[in-house]
Amino acid sequence: MNFMPNDNKVVDSKRRSLLKLSGMLMGSAAVATGLSKPAFAVAPTGAATFTPPGADNPIRINFNENALGMSPKAQAAARNAVAKAHRYAKAEITALGQKVAEYHQISPSSILLTAGSSEGIRAAVEAWSPLGSQLVIPELTYGDGEHFANIAGMKVTKVKALANWAFDIAGMKAAVASHSGPSLVYLVNPNNPTGTITPADLIEPWIKSKPANTMFIVDEAYAEFVNDKRFRSVSPLIAQGMDNVILLKTFSKIHAMAGMRVGYAVAHPNAIALLERHVAGEKINFCGVDAALASMNDPAFIAYSKKSNDLSRQILLKALDELQLPYLPSEGNFVFHQLKTPLKDYQQHMADANVLVGRAFPPADNWCRISLGTPQEMQWVADTLRQFRNKGWV
Ligand SMILES: Cc1ncc(COP(=O)(O)O)c(C=O)c1O
Repeated sequence: MNFMPNDNKVVDSKRRSLLKLSGMLMGSAAVATGLSKPAFAVAPTGAATFTPPGADNPIRINFNENALGMSPKAQAAARNAVAKAHRYAKAEITALGQKVAEYHQISPSSILLTAGSSEGIRAAVEAWSPLGSQLVIPELTYGDGEHFANIAGMKVTKVKALANWAFDIAGMKAAVASHSGPSLVYLVNPNNPTGTITPADLIEPWIKSKPANTMFIVDEAYAEFVNDKRFRSVSPLIAQGMDNVILLKTFSKIHAMAGMRVGYAVAHPNAIALLERHVAGEKINFCGVDAALASMNDPAFIAYSKKSNDLSRQILLKALDELQLPYLPSEGNFVFHQLKTPLKDYQQHMADANVLVGRAFPPADNWCRISLGTPQEMQWVADTLRQFRNKGWV
């Protein structure tokens, strides 16, 4: 049921919207939308080269990837690294560790590089899964914590969410207090799939109270996209010496390097020493390491990535508002919105229109997670949604 190719009026109106958007991105209107010209002087792959989606090139807004493509400087660094990649990236790994440490204003002994933050999640769960320990998680959050705890044979305690899927921090505290063994608390901030933040004022006092036998993993994969001032990273707490919290970070999101597999943990050196026993010796791939270094040295790309995400979000939310489809306040590179129809039907209609949206996230029935693509892609998706309304599909 691919209505798009046969529906010339739809395609024409989409083309007009896209032309307008290209103007916004590249011309003077960029300033009006908060997109400054210097940022677009570095416009990388993807953004300027939108082609309408087809069966072979669908719009992929299903995995919270960054559709802009890597910083051109990071791409060049990765290409150049190929010629050196018969060696281990010894000096480069040390240089990246130092760069990351500088960024977090902490000693390199508080940094452990990992193959994406997934490896950090697995290492932390393995390291803190002695007999009798539990993983405490909210009922709707990123699945890797639970996944690796199940593999490690660790008890998983899920705490029911508050309204709008907000974390019940009081409920999580109670779950820790009522457990006789050690607890590992996994907090994703902003959360995935909801895209919402948990205010620092709810998290920091709990960490600072140092509950007995408790280690916190705070996963801030999407922190660089956040606008809400109530969010604060736990990074300064670790720099101040707190030894009961591990911060997990990734180059997959704001840096657009998901396929490069680079992430890291920030924690007290004692916690880093424990984590180190559960990773493959910081043997990160050469191309990823050099690309990460180049990307960290390219703040214009990071600013561009943030602003492009803000614009993409604005385009999608405008359409959701118009269609009165409820959504949660998004602070990440994705939006969690509610449907009046079953998710399966919506996914199918989208797939027929060559748009791939997020999977089911139980227990959130009839909610859909839409990752934010490029502004041009989101304009296309917004227009597709409006067509769905005309057809009574949303
Ligand atoms: C909250 C969160 N943490 C970690 C990851 C894993 O990312 P990666 O292993 O690519 O760093 C993801 C991926 O989507 C995520 O959403």
